[in-house]
Amino acid sequence: MFWTEKSTRWYKQAAEYTKYHHAIYKEIYPFIPVTASVLDDGCGLGYLSAEIAQNAKVVTAVDIDDRPLEDLVERLKQDNIKNLRVIKSDWSEISEEAKCDVVVSSFFKSNIEDIGRLFEYCSERLILVVSNGSENSFLPERNSHHYRKRADLFADNLRSKGIPFYDKKCFIQFGQPLSSVAEAREFINHYQPTCDNGEIDDHIRSHVENITKDAYGNQYFLSNLKEVCIFVIEKNDYMY
Ligand SMILES: C[S@@+](CC[C@H](N)C(=O)[O-])C[C@H]1O[C@@H](n2cnc3c(N)ncnc32)[C@H](O)[C@@H]1O
Repeated sequence: MFWTEKSTRWYKQAAEYTKYHHAIYKEIYPFIPVTASVLDDGCGLGYLSAEIAQNAKVVTAVDIDDRPLEDLVERLKQDNIKNLRVIKSDWSEISEEAKCDVVVSSFFKSNIEDIGRLFEYCSERLILVVSNGSENSFLPERNSHHYRKRADLFADNLRSKGIPFYDKKCFIQFGQPLSSVAEAREFINHYQPTCDNGEIDDHIRSHVENITKDAYGNQYFLSNLKEVCIFVIEKNDYMY
């Protein structure tokens, strides 16, 4: 399961410290008219959905997991955001009411087979944010193969199908603030349980940085400079 109590807490603190989703939003906002209705598919904690909602007509945030959605609903109340609705659903079974102008999917969909289905939900364009690996991962190297070069593969697949697209690569920081070395150990162990204690400690010695205490009292930081690729596919181009 992607969202546990711990992973949710870590993800929230990383999102708030690095402002990662704002950086993603700055890359995608030129493709989202202020009049647009937007579906954020696999929204997770909805930080990107909330950024989009600031300059869009309405945003529907969809995820299959209750935990991040409950957190999002709380933040919507606190921040008095009214044009963002939350739906718990499998992405492939979203109801008709979620149909929109633009579909956004960040770190969720990057299979060529899913493109046609995603276009069933939108009338204008698809914006996919896809990982291409990390420059310096917060985990010991062997784990970062997971997302490595996924964006390059996806671009190759689009080209081979003759689907026109816009793409832009950028590096965005999504590192992890942590309160103690013990928590850094716990974090690495959570995401890379096969790592032994020696490897974890070596990684901490060479990668952990000191930071000024953040709002949660975190004073250490594990950098994670992600290589991200933004893909934009126009429905008209896809259909012809
Ligand atoms: C890597 S997270 C990305 C979260 C968010 N888009 C972001 O960029 O911060 C992938 C999300 O997809 C959700 N997810 C996984 N399978 C799903 C499905 N079948 N339908 C809808 N959401 C799903 C997970 O619960 C998780 O929140």
